[in-house]
Amino acid sequence: MPAQVHVLRVPKADPPPSPKAPSPPAKPPVTAVEMGTRQREISVSEFFTKNRHLLGFDNPRKALLTCVKEAVDNALDACEEAGILPDVVVKLEAVGNGEPAPPASQATRFRITVTDNGPGIVRHQIPPIFAKLLYGSKFHRLRMSRGQQGIGISAAGMYGQLTTGKPVQIISRTSPRAPAHYFEVQIDTKKNEPRILEKKQIAWEAPRGTQVTLEIEGRYQKGRASVDEYLEQTIIANPHVKLTYLAPDAEPREYRRTYDQLPPSPREIKPHPYGIELGMLLKMLQDTKSHAVSGFLASDFSRMSPRLADEICKTAGVSPRARPRDVHGPSAEALYKAIQTTKIMAPPTNCLSPIGERAILAGLYQQIKGDFYTAVSRPPAVYRGNPFVIEAGLAYGRGPEQADGQEKKAVPLAEGEGEPADHELARVIRYANRVPLLYQQAACASYKAVLDTTWRNYGVSQSRGALPAGPMVIFVHMASVWVPFTSESKEAIAEYDEIRKEITLALRECGRRLGAFLRRRERAHSENRRRNIFELYIEEVVESCNRLKGGRLPTAKLKEQLHRMALARTGGEKTDELLGKNGGGPEGLPHSIIVTPEGVEGELPTMVAAEAAAVGSADGGEPEETEGRAAPRGRKKDRRVRAAAKGRKVVRAKAAPSSRRGGSTKRPARGGRRKA
Ligand SMILES: Nc1ncnc2c1ncn2[C@@H]1O[C@H](COP(=O)(O)OP(=O)(O)O)[C@@H](O)[C@H]1O
Ligand SMILES: [Mg+2]
Repeated sequence: MPAQVHVLRVPKADPPPSPKAPSPPAKPPVTAVEMGTRQREISVSEFFTKNRHLLGFDNPRKALLTCVKEAVDNALDACEEAGILPDVVVKLEAVGNGEPAPPASQATRFRITVTDNGPGIVRHQIPPIFAKLLYGSKFHRLRMSRGQQGIGISAAGMYGQLTTGKPVQIISRTSPRAPAHYFEVQIDTKKNEPRILEKKQIAWEAPRGTQVTLEIEGRYQKGRASVDEYLEQTIIANPHVKLTYLAPDAEPREYRRTYDQLPPSPREIKPHPYGIELGMLLKMLQDTKSHAVSGFLASDFSRMSPRLADEICKTAGVSPRARPRDVHGPSAEALYKAIQTTKIMAPPTNCLSPIGERAILAGLYQQIKGDFYTAVSRPPAVYRGNPFVIEAGLAYGRGPEQADGQEKKAVPLAEGEGEPADHELARVIRYANRVPLLYQQAACASYKAVLDTTWRNYGVSQSRGALPAGPMVIFVHMASVWVPFTSESKEAIAEYDEIRKEITLALRECGRRLGAFLRRRERAHSENRRRNIFELYIEEVVESCNRLKGGRLPTAKLKEQLHRMALARTGGEKTDELLGKNGGGPEGLPHSIIVTPEGVEGELPTMVAAEAAAVGSADGGEPEETEGRAAPRGRKKDRRVRAAAKGRKVVRAKAAPSSRRGGSTKRPARGGRRKA
């Protein structure tokens, strides 16, 4: 064993030579001087070339997703920061290496083009942004954004360069009056510096925005954690985005905007005193522009008034007028301790821009078929001084058109009772700062919180340590100025107690609402069954009574009275309402939508509702819409409209069922079965 060899050899070389010294001690294989000559700096590009799995480029399929994701995330960040409603086009093309391009499923090379209508990039910034790792505008500030590290798009470019040798191509324009610039850049991995292969002004039809083209080695496969799934999930959490997706093997897909308001622009904040570590404090003391410690505390941190700063200095025994640069060693430590023991207000939360209950509902409703939807936005909380907001949502059920045959499954199960045929487990969709997280589910705090929630309390069956069973999609979003990812590839949220607790609270609230919905619906179903039995006998009873009375009974009146009794004894109007027979709202269920065969109740997204009305009043001639996107749900509301404009056939978009069950894209679009 190598370890043994090593252990044995060391003492051999060390002892001082004995007087006899028959043989000279073995020369150590390497001397410190030799080792010294081998020491070299490692450039970050070289590091990440060797460790590209850290950035999400472990295999060709994931690499394709990562490249699309980095480009789309940047496009959305840029648009939102500039106050522009995003309009993004994602194009994937299979490329043949010299030969004609093979079909997408067999291709190993792809060209990815992502175009946005964002603010554009000034000319001299284009090369470092796309061909220098750790270069960006978001790292040094505390503000919620999708990107953080400045290692997104440049890493994607580097991966393309490594696998195909092709440079990144960029077109960018900052206004209709400015020219469009075209660049081809590569990264010099030794120096981590950009190399410009081509730069020129070109004619470009777009008045403003950025287009980036990457050629990479990749694999295109649908299903879990695919580009398709990423885009579908992006739309759920970003209903304000218009997205056109040109997949390599399908018709163009257009996801329309269903929420026409930009999320409120988050503010940049200063670090909260509770959030920093001692080393950070020392660095800030060195870097500050303030001339006195009290001024430094008051101006470089959030929630710190001059009075509070003086109080902290006093507790620490440090003069408020001392020069920050002179505070080190024990006095810096005392200052650090004083900060931790002083009561300071929680950080401001206008640096966050949660999605909001309405928008989550709009997104879920749009993309996932179900009977019940709900959304919860928690109040802001803080971990390690960083403010964050947790949001959760639920889409439950199979949608009304399947309800008849499968009604039984929606019935809550008794504890211990299992549905042997129903192995379908809930699906968790996770987000951080509006970006879907598709890998490392098991390592993520949000997934663990879903497992730890006792869903049986809410009428959903669940085996120990497993996801709840049933047709359910669970949505969890964390918005923060700094999302604590477990790795650079940004796939899972680390487990801080505060974060876990907030996720659990949000999930419980969703669960309670789901439980209320299921209980009510089950009660309504059983009342309805009873009512049907009563009604079955009414005819008989009336007939018999009439016979007893020698045929002199006012049968119609008696029938009517008995019907009224049956109605009253079986929950009355309430039952109809719960079964969606009279269009009442989801009483007592805030931020929820209930879908029944008769219509939709609740916070229907306004754009969807408006769209539905427009669709309903437009000619009913256009029979089919087969693309996954905004239209499917609009039609729901229009059911009532539809009743009027009879005979219109509605076909559900593919996206809805596939987003529910991830890998099930092969299933035929269910809508085909739907009739007007
Ligand atoms: N489409 C775009 N439009 C405008 N600016 C962009 C675009 N893409 C990237 N940028 C800028 O380039 C920087 C670097 O991007 P990236 O390498 O993805 O790192 P990050 O997004 O983590 O900051 C971003 O911070 C942003 O300022
Ligand atoms: Mg980025």
